[in-house]
Amino acid sequence: MVSEVLLDEALHTRMSIMACNYIYDMRGVPPLDFADFNLVHWRDRLLAECGAEWERRLTRFAIASASETLITDYLKIMAEDSSIQAICHEVTRTHAMDEWAHSSAFSFVATDIVQGLSYKEREYLRSTILKTVQMFANNELNAWAAVFSSLSFPHAQDILHDIGDSNEIGVYTNSVENLIDRIGLARQPYAEHQDVRV
Ligand SMILES: [Fe+2]
Ligand SMILES: [Fe+2]
Repeated sequence: MVSEVLLDEALHTRMSIMACNYIYDMRGVPPLDFADFNLVHWRDRLLAECGAEWERRLTRFAIASASETLITDYLKIMAEDSSIQAICHEVTRTHAMDEWAHSSAFSFVATDIVQGLSYKEREYLRSTILKTVQMFANNELNAWAAVFSSLSFPHAQDILHDIGDSNEIGVYTNSVENLIDRIGLARQPYAEHQDVRV
């Protein structure tokens, strides 16, 4: 089951890259050369700060779990917006439908993993999932600055300045809280006493 989900994700990447290349060709714009994303730096820093292998393992799992939920929300917004370019709309709509199709498989596996964790591990996983929401909602203004500059976009500095560091965290919080409930990570007052493994 997990390998089928991974195959889906590999095909989503392929579909998205093909769509980007098509847009670059049709628009006659140079492919964007940018990989300096805040989310990637934050993930690397968090992993480097882990003091034990179990922390590294759970950090990777937390970021993957939160991202899996958050990307589906993000795609949904674009999938339902018919005012954007038709190819972007179609690609994100197809991607979103595929994410919905395998979301139950992901929750099933995550629930199974959570059941095998100690109280301390669950708390660690829960807090890292919540931290990921903050990072996922980051505006990645450096990436936008690179896009604007490669297109010589008018008033780029003004646009970046107007957006500032504000993000859209409110849009994403609910779905991650639902994920936490669904996979058995919600805080229970008696859990500390029930599980003596720390
Ligand atoms: Fe995907
Ligand atoms: Fe997915």
